[in-house]
Amino acid sequence: MGLCFSFLFPPSATPQSSSSFNKPPLSSGSTSTIGFSATTSSAGRSQFSEVASGSIDGTNEGSLRFPSPNGQILDRPNLKVFSFGDMKSAARGFKPDTLLGEGGFGKVYKGWMDEKTLTPAKAGSGIMVAIKKLNSESTQGFQEWQSEVNFLGRLSHPNLVKLLGYCWEDEELLLVYEFMPKGSLENHLFRRNPNIEPLSWNTRIKIAIGAARGLAFLHDSEKQVIYRDFKASNILLDGSYNAKISDFGLAKLGPSGGQSHVTTRVMGTYGYAAPEYIATGHLYVKSDVYGFGVVLLEIMTAMRALDTKRPSGQQNLVEWVKPFLSNKKKLKGIMDARIEGQYSPKAAIQAAQLSLKCLENDPKQRPSMKEVLESLEAIEAIQVKSKESKNNISHQAPVVQAARHQRAVKV
Ligand SMILES: Nc1ncnc2c1ncn2[C@@H]1O[C@H](COP(=O)(O)OP(=O)(O)OP(=O)(O)O)[C@@H](O)[C@H]1O
Ligand SMILES: [Mg+2]
Repeated sequence: MGLCFSFLFPPSATPQSSSSFNKPPLSSGSTSTIGFSATTSSAGRSQFSEVASGSIDGTNEGSLRFPSPNGQILDRPNLKVFSFGDMKSAARGFKPDTLLGEGGFGKVYKGWMDEKTLTPAKAGSGIMVAIKKLNSESTQGFQEWQSEVNFLGRLSHPNLVKLLGYCWEDEELLLVYEFMPKGSLENHLFRRNPNIEPLSWNTRIKIAIGAARGLAFLHDSEKQVIYRDFKASNILLDGSYNAKISDFGLAKLGPSGGQSHVTTRVMGTYGYAAPEYIATGHLYVKSDVYGFGVVLLEIMTAMRALDTKRPSGQQNLVEWVKPFLSNKKKLKGIMDARIEGQYSPKAAIQAAQLSLKCLENDPKQRPSMKEVLESLEAIEAIQVKSKESKNNISHQAPVVQAARHQRAVKV
């Protein structure tokens, strides 16, 4: 749940303190829905109060809003409320060996629960869950926690991580998610572990497609949801490398009443945030498309959006590589060497051109996520065709493809 920068913009969006929210009734041990009520503030509606004041799509009729065969938006979060005791026993007392990772919100632990009742289970039995525990020093944590509950608790889509429930007891704030066995895309791209096979080109495109589907779902819902924190660490992977977007702490409802943008405090992550958003605080659905373009570049190059360890002039990936994206030869020089030979040059240049379009300075010039998705599917098809004709392999596991390629090169 990321908050790597935040400066006030404009004063009308001043966050409310945690004390201005009423605590939801706790019904520990049962699946329940929650609806927070926010006290009104002269500072205007906060990020949270917009969501809390009704359903995510701003109406109160019916329960399903999204005309998608795969996704739906519920009127209210449908989440289990956990006691802190449940959390502690599911995560084995938050012992270090259950630690999965740590972000701006706090630590994430592995836990075990009964699949049907979601009650704590013995380690190794039932299903695994990921339990995110708010760090008491996190200043923005409470708002992000609420936003996560209100957005993710109502959204259901194969490319969004499933939030199972939450715990709010005294000062303790926790969130319980489905467990994503392959961790984050960030870990795969940047934390080089000799024991883990690098993601193949095919798997990278599959991940990009899944993440694009998740964003397209958010953007195309009747009342658009702007995600605002699209980055490699927020793309989690299931056992088959299906991508799911996580962390809705910064999500916002899209513009209403014919407006083209929402004005907010500028929050997000350096390197991924769109230039117009940083400069003016104007947030568009297309601001997410910019973040997608940055991640697509990271996927292709395995280089971080921002890296102060790179020589000056190369630290900001977008600024540095933009001039290389239209030239096949120059592009080859910045592509991740670990996947060389796994993609056709045509597919690579098309992916580079797509990221360029996403990175247009003028948000209106950027494609919609639906268009991005279509382009990625076309790129995926090129890959399959060229593999079929050249090597007569198409849908094998990435590791097998890589092995074959190595053998072919050796001979
Ligand atoms: N549902 C999950 N299943 C498995 N691992 C998870 C899950 N959620 C988070 N993790 C692990 O915990 C790590 C920390 O996640 P978290 O979202 O708190 O921070 P982050 O995304 O790395 O940074 P940020 O605070 O900027 O979002 C992730 O990198 C991932 O490895
Ligand atoms: Mg995260």
